[in-house]
Amino acid sequence: MLDLKSAVVVVTGAGRGLGAALAISLADLGCKLILCGRNAAALADVGAQILARTGNSAEQVVVDLANMDSVKAALAEIHVRQPQVDVLINNGAMWLEASEQPHSSSEVLGVIDAALSGTYLLTQGLLPALKASKRPDIVTIGSISGLPNAPLHSVSLPFYAAKHGQLALADGLRQVLKGTPVRSLCVHPPYLEDISPLDEQWQQVPERQKGQKGTNRDVVEAVVFALTRPRHISLSSIVIDTDDGGLFS
Ligand SMILES: NC(=O)c1ccc[n+]([C@@H]2O[C@H](COP(=O)([O-])OP(=O)(O)OC[C@H]3O[C@@H](n4cnc5c(N)ncnc54)[C@H](OP(=O)(O)O)[C@@H]3O)[C@@H](O)[C@H]2O)c1
Repeated sequence: MLDLKSAVVVVTGAGRGLGAALAISLADLGCKLILCGRNAAALADVGAQILARTGNSAEQVVVDLANMDSVKAALAEIHVRQPQVDVLINNGAMWLEASEQPHSSSEVLGVIDAALSGTYLLTQGLLPALKASKRPDIVTIGSISGLPNAPLHSVSLPFYAAKHGQLALADGLRQVLKGTPVRSLCVHPPYLEDISPLDEQWQQVPERQKGQKGTNRDVVEAVVFALTRPRHISLSSIVIDTDDGGLFS
């Protein structure tokens, strides 16, 4: 099992939810975090929690993945702070529920641009810093909504398309990065209970039974497992199935 100690990890959408849980958990394992997100106060809060738990400070970079100027500025800031990045976790993505009313153009652009345009440009811009690492990984947090033939349920079409696109992004990266040390992994979570490593429920997750809801901890553990595999192995796709019989219906 590979050691994650001292790995430089960039996490998008790190101010809350799964991104914050990933950031705090990876900091607990000794990683140096670069927290990216739209909300500076939320990033500062997660940074303070990391400092209190580990004694290590986490860098914070404000970025709106749906705004390409913001992505460009964030890339410049990350390069100044860390010329080498070991792990990029593309977690930030805008949620949009299905609606009987037409979606506004800002909703559609927000969803597609955050998940695809901004995520792609951030990844492309960080590739030189990843290639400077001895253990580079790109982790894309997709969704079971992004799997082939997944049912729509309450998910809007733009979100469904964006998550299918993120799977294509992760797959395409694997082809482009063949022959380089960079691995591209995609994790597909089901509908999650939003818990934090700071919550008591976090400790009780291992006691859950088949059929119970998945949590942020289950995704964090899948990501850590994938990242710590020997370098010749890529767990290219991890589908987290909470007793849907593989049908996600
Ligand atoms: N929760 C679930 O049930 C579930 C299931 C499957 C997959 N996922 C995926 O897991 C990832 C994390 O989601 P979540 O569970 O924490 O809940 P979420 O409510 O979907 O959170 C979205 C995250 O992305 C960030 N984000 C949204 N738009 C952004 C933008 N334009 N620029 C930068 N960051 C942006 C948000 O940060 P702000 O604080 O700036 O809004 C937040 O951290 C997402 O990719 C989501 O699609 C979640």
